[in-house]
Amino acid sequence: MTKIESVAVVGAGLMGSGIAEAVAVAGVPVVVREVDPAAVGLARERIGGSLSRAVSRGKLAAEEAAKVEGRITLTTELEAVAAADLVVEAVPEDERLKLQVIAAIGEVVGDQAIVASNTSSIPITQLAQAVNGPERVIGLHFFSPVPVMALVELVVALDTSPETVAGARAFVERIGKRPIETKDRAGFVVNMLLVPYLVAAMRMFEEGFASREDIDTGMKLGCGHPMGPLTLSDFIGLDVLHAVCDSLYEEFKRDEYAAPPLLKRMVASGRLGRKSGRGFYEY
Ligand code: CAA
Repeated sequence: MTKIESVAVVGAGLMGSGIAEAVAVAGVPVVVREVDPAAVGLARERIGGSLSRAVSRGKLAAEEAAKVEGRITLTTELEAVAAADLVVEAVPEDERLKLQVIAAIGEVVGDQAIVASNTSSIPITQLAQAVNGPERVIGLHFFSPVPVMALVELVVALDTSPETVAGARAFVERIGKRPIETKDRAGFVVNMLLVPYLVAAMRMFEEGFASREDIDTGMKLGCGHPMGPLTLSDFIGLDVLHAVCDSLYEEFKRDEYAAPPLLKRMVASGRLGRKSGRGFYEY
């Protein structure tokens, strides 16, 4: 079993930055690769901001936060991931891009390294074919905000070896998160349950059944959810949700997964949720 002593994350958007932070907080050195200096700068700011929040909430001592930052190496060089025991791909949810990036990772890492994808909608089995040695490929599906959410889905593809699963499981536990194992089917466990609920809330809003605030308040106060479904959709990103809906619908052809007309149009008009400044709400 590959013991994970060093990690690399390729793609440092919201998810990649969060994954890198969680790894570094657990004491493991991490290389973070982004495409250009501007993206590297944004990732540095995002991680720094989240660490400051952790300090101000009393989750992390200030001197420990400085050590955590010291464990993170930000770079634009893909070769910098070569020495990692585990590389997590977290680039945008675009199949061609992910295949390209995973193939490039497979070329630079050692034979024993585990290659993981954080995809929420593309079959791991398909991504694994881009790597020489698909038995080393697994899905590691984190949840947003990664520094706070305790779950990671281990997505076991057709070719994933038991050693890869064991190595990935030990890594997830080492960073203080709880793994659950799932087959390589669209949506895995959590999105297969969550997405029909979010889609139902969007349809309810689209049909004028209730206001956005009342739908959200209903689920927050009526069911104790930390966020209502429309706020949560904005938080996840409407483009990401659209991609997950499409992959679930494509896989199971069940109506509850079909992207509602309003979601399609919101994405087309750049209303992507919190990250673009507007979605079901304005930010
Ligand atoms: N590092 C460590 N801890 C942090 C932190 C950080 N950067 N920022 C906040 N925290 C801690 C806080 O200290 C607090 O902990 P306690 O409860 O022990 O005090 C906790 O996190 C909550 O933080 P806040 O009080 O600041 O914020 P909040 O109460 O408004 O919660 C939230 C924010 C955690 C995002 C909460 O609203 C929530 O859980 N929302 C739902 C998130 C969710 O469902 N995510 C999954 C999305 S689906 C997905 O990601 C997968 C996909 O493929 C689409």
